[in-house]
Amino acid sequence: MKLCGWGKANMATRFLAIEKLINLRDGYRKRLKIDQWDVVLLQEQGDRYVIQSHCPHQQHPLLDANVEDGVITCPYHQYRFDMNQGINLEGVCAPLRCYDTVYDGNAIGIMIDD
Ligand code: FES
Repeated sequence: MKLCGWGKANMATRFLAIEKLINLRDGYRKRLKIDQWDVVLLQEQGDRYVIQSHCPHQQHPLLDANVEDGVITCPYHQYRFDMNQGINLEGVCAPLRCYDTVYDGNAIGIMIDD
């Protein structure tokens, strides 16, 4: 018997579209607040990311943060986060919440729990 995911057995997930693919290009950034979801969608060097909108250290906005090689640097205390796994590279604070990007037709989005 596989025990993984037991806590979500009755939880439904659904696709939440957040942008049309035609609008994406390197340098694209957009903050979205939908219900309790507060995220930033961005594209850099051809890679697309959806991350929580504020730094997990002291909640500084990340919309204008520097991004390079999949690492985002918070402008407030310069903590760096791997945007694929969320890990704080200094190892001193909670991880950044990162969402898997999902494509549906001409839209990019994330899967959310209802
Ligand atoms: S608030 Fe982001 S590093 Fe401190």
